[in-house]
Amino acid sequence: MTFTVEVDVPVPMRDGVALATNVWLPHGTGPFPALLVRTPYGKDEAGLYGNPKLPDVFALVEAGYAVVAQDVRGTSRSPGTFVPHTHEGPDSVDTLAWLAAQPWCDGAVGMWGGSYMGFSQWQAAAHDVPALRAIAPVMTSADPYAAPWRSPGGALSQDAVLTWASLSALRTLRRGSADGHGDAGALLSGLADPRSLHEPLPLADRAAVTRSLPWLGDVLGHPERDAFWREIAAIDHCGRITVPALHIGGWYDVFVRETVRSYTMLRRHGGSAAARDGQRLVVGPWSHADGTDLGTYPDRSFGLAGSIKTAGLTEAHLRFFDRWVRGRSEPPGDPHRVRIFVMGTDEWRDEPDWPLPDTRYTDFFLDGGGRANTAGGDGVLNVDAPAEGATDTFRCDPRDPVPSLGGTVLAAAPGTYPGPADQAAVEAREDVLCFTTPVLERPVEVTGHVTLVLHIRSSTPDTDFTGKLVDVHPDGRAILLCEGIQRVRYRDSLTEPALLAPGTDAELTLDLGITANVFRPGHRIRLEVAGSNFPRYDRNTNTGATIATDGDDDAVVAVNHVHHGPAHPSRLILPLIDRPAPEEARP
Ligand code: BEZ
Repeated sequence: MTFTVEVDVPVPMRDGVALATNVWLPHGTGPFPALLVRTPYGKDEAGLYGNPKLPDVFALVEAGYAVVAQDVRGTSRSPGTFVPHTHEGPDSVDTLAWLAAQPWCDGAVGMWGGSYMGFSQWQAAAHDVPALRAIAPVMTSADPYAAPWRSPGGALSQDAVLTWASLSALRTLRRGSADGHGDAGALLSGLADPRSLHEPLPLADRAAVTRSLPWLGDVLGHPERDAFWREIAAIDHCGRITVPALHIGGWYDVFVRETVRSYTMLRRHGGSAAARDGQRLVVGPWSHADGTDLGTYPDRSFGLAGSIKTAGLTEAHLRFFDRWVRGRSEPPGDPHRVRIFVMGTDEWRDEPDWPLPDTRYTDFFLDGGGRANTAGGDGVLNVDAPAEGATDTFRCDPRDPVPSLGGTVLAAAPGTYPGPADQAAVEAREDVLCFTTPVLERPVEVTGHVTLVLHIRSSTPDTDFTGKLVDVHPDGRAILLCEGIQRVRYRDSLTEPALLAPGTDAELTLDLGITANVFRPGHRIRLEVAGSNFPRYDRNTNTGATIATDGDDDAVVAVNHVHHGPAHPSRLILPLIDRPAPEEARP
């Protein structure tokens, strides 16, 4: 393979700042279609070229694409100040215009990249730039409030925010553009010892980070989904998005719900037939963290098929860009929009769409005698509506929160990892309610969006309710599938919070995210309910005041109740897929 690379080409933005850009040109005379990636992590860093979640740059160039990698404003070799999200819309538009005008470019451009690199793609797509023909956002979000910074129930995604902001602040310090007051030692010790990063209250008191990255103060200062968030939410402008997207996600990625929601929103509301029909979705058993994309975790292995290395993501990118950037017709034999790894059977499956068209949403009612605390309690999950009512009670203590164990964390606590971890340690806590089905005699497939409806009461004006869906294996392992949280003040609206009069009842709907899992015979389905999942989400100080500025002395314990029974149908709503097994389907 022969190609040329021009390094640090200055690409001018509308305000005169020129962003450092590398241009890889394939062999031949061109002009070529171009594939652009815009990164805050260094266009010259090896991470961009050896990351199995991203397409292989060499394969893209060999296939005849010009590959263009740019340092976003204020990072690595690009001048200016890095303010996350803020410049990505205009700077992407200006870069696309510059690209389309180059003699070596044929005027058709695709964008690619994961996580932050995906934020740029969504911003560009929402500006509907003619040169942009398709995007391939990997493990990212078109709604930064919902993920990765806050969550659909209004709680802060504390682990993602503080970990990522600390790393970004360190990078800013390293390039020498901070105000000189940065404290690399404090940032490094926070990353090495997540307890010292996460535990101190008030949450807003994070000077080591904000000195280099003042943006963190804005994230903590905007708990509601206000104009600060709407400004950068491409998802709010689906009608303006006219390009198809190849969405790639992982069941244990902090972004997964948004990855899939971007797909469903554009399928319904995209601004062109291509945008509505051209979406493609791939989701594997992966988390966000590097090294956990092999589909093999200490408590659960998904086998070789689960490895991202065997998922053919480079080929998927090439097929997609050939169709939409080069305008070639779709190769025969690929009529499926959606490819998902189904856990439990541990195999890949092609599907016509998401949610799967044959999904049957089914209520599993919370039941029991009112002592559901711990996995050894009397909590039951049942498809039959309960005949009698009862109330379960647990404490939500911000000074002793339920620790996050695996799941969709970005950085796990020492000794743990993001992903499908055994929940035994948290299910032994008195402040965790467990509702479990009897042992299953037949396989039960749950693929889609998981929702929890709780009838609650609290001793405080605000508090949190969390939920987790868990697959209990015959050997007792309680493997986490998906999780969520609802902050009570945001139960009706993310823009107009309303406190609850202590001691009054309310109905909450929790979004527990998405999964694809077959609960095999011999397994049990379990729901966990608690008052925190920390530091995956921030702790509610339960005061009803501004949580980020509440100190240790302000925080109070909430006594929380979950009612269930005929008058209070608390229930888990599972997306069941009930298809005949291949042998049953045979005539
Ligand atoms: C990332 O680029 O990997 C990332 C960005 C925001 C939050 C978490 C991860």
